[in-house]
Amino acid sequence: MGIKDFVGKLNKRIMPKVEKGLKAIPPINRRIEAQYEEMMAGLDGSLKPYRGEFKTFAQLPENGRSHEDILAEMVALKKLEQARWQDGYVSGAVYHGEDEHINFLNQVYTLHSQSNPLHADVWPSTGKFEAEIVSMTAHMLGAGQTPPGYGVNEEICGTMSSGGTESILLAMKTYRDWARDKKGIKNPEMIVPVTAHAAFDKAAQYFNIKMVRLPVDHNFRADWTAVQDLITPNTVVIVGSAPGYPHGVVDPIEEMSTLALKNGIGFHTDACLGGFVLPWAKKLGYDVPPFDFRLPGVTSMSADTHKYGYAAKGTSVVLYRGAELRRYQYFTVTDWPGGLYFSPSFAGSRPGALSAACWAAMVSLGEEGYLDATQKIVETSLKIREGIAQIPGLRMLGESLIVHAFTSDEFDIYRVMDVMHQQHWGLNGLHHPTCIHFCVTHIHTQSGVAERFVADLATAVQHVRTHPAEEGGLAPVYGLAASIPMRGVVSDILKRYIDKIYEV
Ligand SMILES: Cc1ncc(COP(=O)(O)O)c(C=O)c1O
Repeated sequence: MGIKDFVGKLNKRIMPKVEKGLKAIPPINRRIEAQYEEMMAGLDGSLKPYRGEFKTFAQLPENGRSHEDILAEMVALKKLEQARWQDGYVSGAVYHGEDEHINFLNQVYTLHSQSNPLHADVWPSTGKFEAEIVSMTAHMLGAGQTPPGYGVNEEICGTMSSGGTESILLAMKTYRDWARDKKGIKNPEMIVPVTAHAAFDKAAQYFNIKMVRLPVDHNFRADWTAVQDLITPNTVVIVGSAPGYPHGVVDPIEEMSTLALKNGIGFHTDACLGGFVLPWAKKLGYDVPPFDFRLPGVTSMSADTHKYGYAAKGTSVVLYRGAELRRYQYFTVTDWPGGLYFSPSFAGSRPGALSAACWAAMVSLGEEGYLDATQKIVETSLKIREGIAQIPGLRMLGESLIVHAFTSDEFDIYRVMDVMHQQHWGLNGLHHPTCIHFCVTHIHTQSGVAERFVADLATAVQHVRTHPAEEGGLAPVYGLAASIPMRGVVSDILKRYIDKIYEV
């Protein structure tokens, strides 16, 4: 272990205690709180731009407002916010974005706005939509195509959820409960690449599963050669991403899932981001490594319909190899005075209209629509990638068809993000290592967006090079947040940020 690693480990162990100790000293705590308040006040401009511009309702109005009045306000707010994403300035966020598609989904939503899958008997149509969404997704992701001879050819089944995070939480809870029941594991562990989505940390915290971190190699792919040494009798699941959010890289799912199968452990492919892109990219001839149920060791997957599935926000699919495993996800209560209660996922009542709109998105596009969208997206994306790679001073991190992460060894990349932000671009700032990324979606396939992005990025880089001493912006905050050893302070700041969002 190098001295840096040693200090890093020491920091992780000791810092939380030091921070807690410092905060217990009232004058120091008061100073820290004052700093937090000052920092949050600085966010008013970006988080609360409508204060004073629109009426504020801290309490119910005594008399109801007219529909016209409310709708006028909604339209005004929409107008203020739509140009940025509609013109393709934002990374990820909106995955389709064409007016005709959105208006069609809105029409479907309107038709089913009162439906609730919790009442499957009142609205059996929602059951039909959800069963078919799950089945269509499963078939897209290799259902029935596991090579024979592994004894694992159970039917691929699953449920809907409200988004990628919920799908991941559900799958991790499922493995915890499965392992407790089948193997008597009381202290479950999961092996998760450091680049996997934060939803896995959430699962670890919520369900008391020990998070065992798997490092990545120099290409940001999970280091599968380290997996075997991390497996213990308490390991319930190994995770891989296809692709991961930070660098858009697909992990070596084949190697990792083979190890899982050999050790009798579950394997989850997180294809929240890539589930609706990779199968089509492969059909189009792009180089896509195996990642889905064609691999016998893959026992569950998450795939987001509300990303490249082009549904409205609020839906995702979680899939399992076999109905038996899926049942560990379900919730039932048999002695509640309110009657027999059961639900497939975390929520009770759910918006059936979102499932209806999701189903409508999928069957209106069909294979042809997904192939066409993927072709446009990947072509645009590779154009953007080539453009970034040609800007002197920028260095690409990892290889990806849809997400491009890059950094610089010559200047502060967060300052480039700041300058891009001044030009309306919304890029994502990442750390470990410090970089920024841009996730290409259908909205960026509009004519001229890729060229505009590359030209603006080149100008931003030039600006940062020629103004090395410029101050301000969010770059110092990002830099500090990435490097400060007091992670509790960073966490406190993030919690205050959420408080701020809920300020009227
Ligand atoms: C790879 C991956 N997994 C999970 C998620 C979480 O999805 P959601 O934001 O829908 O909860 C994301 C979100 O970007 C993702 O990229």
